[in-house]
Amino acid sequence: MSHKIQTLSGYFHEYQKSVLEPEAFWSRIAESFHWRKKWTKTLEWDFEGPNVKWFVNGKLNLTENIFERHLYTKGETPAIIWEPNNPDEPNRTLTYSELYRLTNQFCNALKAQGIGKGDRVIIYMPMVPEAAIAMLACARVGAIHSVVFAGFSASSLADRINDCQAKMVLTSDGNFRGQKQIEVKAVVDEALTKCTSVQKVIVLQRTHQPVNMVTNRDLWWHNAIDGQPYEFEAEEMDAEDMLFILYTSGSTGKPKGVVHTTGGYMVYSYYSFLNVFQYSQGDIYWCTADVGWITGHSYIVYGPLLAGATTLMFEGVPTHPHPGRFWEIVDKYKVNQFYTAPTAIRALQAYGLEPVEPYSLSSLKVIGSVGEPINEEAWHWYHDHIGKGNCPLVDTWWQTETGGIMISALAGITPNKPAHASLPLPGVQPVIVDAEGNELTGNNVEGNLCIKFPWPSMLRTTYGDHEKCKNVYFSTYKGMYFTGDGAKRDHDGYLRILGRVDDVINVSGHRMGTAEVENAINEHPKVVESAVVGFPHEVKGQGIYAFVICDMTGRTEESLKEEIKETVRKIIGPIAKPDIVQIVPGLPKTRSGKIMRRILRKVASKDLSNLGDTSTLLNPEVVDDIIKGAGL
Ligand code: WTA
Repeated sequence: MSHKIQTLSGYFHEYQKSVLEPEAFWSRIAESFHWRKKWTKTLEWDFEGPNVKWFVNGKLNLTENIFERHLYTKGETPAIIWEPNNPDEPNRTLTYSELYRLTNQFCNALKAQGIGKGDRVIIYMPMVPEAAIAMLACARVGAIHSVVFAGFSASSLADRINDCQAKMVLTSDGNFRGQKQIEVKAVVDEALTKCTSVQKVIVLQRTHQPVNMVTNRDLWWHNAIDGQPYEFEAEEMDAEDMLFILYTSGSTGKPKGVVHTTGGYMVYSYYSFLNVFQYSQGDIYWCTADVGWITGHSYIVYGPLLAGATTLMFEGVPTHPHPGRFWEIVDKYKVNQFYTAPTAIRALQAYGLEPVEPYSLSSLKVIGSVGEPINEEAWHWYHDHIGKGNCPLVDTWWQTETGGIMISALAGITPNKPAHASLPLPGVQPVIVDAEGNELTGNNVEGNLCIKFPWPSMLRTTYGDHEKCKNVYFSTYKGMYFTGDGAKRDHDGYLRILGRVDDVINVSGHRMGTAEVENAINEHPKVVESAVVGFPHEVKGQGIYAFVICDMTGRTEESLKEEIKETVRKIIGPIAKPDIVQIVPGLPKTRSGKIMRRILRKVASKDLSNLGDTSTLLNPEVVDDIIKGAGL
């Protein structure tokens, strides 16, 4: 495979080329794909609009680059290996030709139910091969999928359906997750009471629990595909036609629908997968994410399948039925590349080495991390006990908006440095800027992380609201994409990500906007006002701390705290439930009425040093009350 970088000098060489002649660089990679019509211009861009187009006027279907391109050579190669939640249930392997046939069959089912090019389809499903089939079938018929993590609540699901005016929802009767069985279809039913755009719901039978099927709206997956042919002619798409929308939290308001388009995303997800993980044909690759997140999109489904890889999909959780489950799976399938999140590492680290010891893990060649900064302790544990000290650890920094890995070591090529994402991938031009937006050049600098040149898989817009895309990402620093993260370039020129500098909390690798959680808390009738901040959490990385002003009549403090947590769980989902709720008499505010979150963050982190001058506050006296209330 000619696009795989082999050496460190090879990396520097490719990087140079990608900066000096980005269009020629990406053209060369894109040319190895199958296009129905070649592009007329490689790149068109300005970051003011923003307006970014890659492979202008190129025509293709992404799935032809998974199937038609690989079938002759890899028809019998496993594309997806699926490990169920319950280890006693039979696993499944789908070869490229089987996946092709099942995808085509589902394309025909989608068509029969009225789905065509440009329609939005919500996927709210468990981690089963059908979730990947659903994504691929949407891409093949030209529909735009929006996968919603099946842990989100009915109201979060309804918001997403309404925002993109989805015509169809793909779901299951229920989900298995560890010992739990989740009533997924019931959540969809509840969501749909608030939506009018959805015409059909296709329901996969997974748990066989009883569900309510609405006449003329709901049909079973097995009935939808029954009798449908295994052939389907892929729809011709423009390089800039939307491939998918993925909702993600930001610092303001409701989650935004990040839009990715076809050509650039295809090229970059493939290229980054191949190079970061140094995938070789025949390797078994496993990413433990859920397809509801961008990591699942780019590095369970699209990147690996475009590279003709074998991708393992796991339905369950790391601790079920025992805390050695991940390692058991690694040995069972002889996994070569393993990609997970720091929060999972820390959670498993807490069980000690006993659950790791029964497994050899000798097949592992590369281990990876994503989702949040990996602390040095977790880095070493992962490196020493899982990688046995001889697997390169790739700490991959990227975002829903970037579509693919941006800053990371290339496994075995870039020297490892604990807790450093390290160097940018070819084609990625990161800059560190100060508060005024001046680029800080040279080493030993720290500031906000921006990207100053387009890369193929960058977001193009936020669905239905281009102005928002401009304001959130392209207005803070003129002419640059602002990531929302802080970063440091150390004395060796290695990049270290320092975490979010905006009002986004990273809980177990999942992004939560403080405003979003506050809005949910404020729905509780007894709540007057609230402020939410993140605080350091041993396993989750960050936890959610809510300071709430309440009307206490008729409630005890304990009951009210529980009700508030429950309200957030119901409105957003279990991942957003505050870890700590503190009832406070007031919130520290500036004279212009802005909440001083800096002070609240200090209290939540139990760090009262450098509280700063509080005398200029509108209500300095509440600070002492809050500190006392926090037991400090
Ligand atoms: C954080 C996940 C440090 C970061 C792919 C980013 C990281 C946000 C890393 C995006 C990493 C992700 N080191 N921080 N290796 N990877 N982040 O959109 O704050 O769910 O902005 O994408 O996660 O989260 P998202």
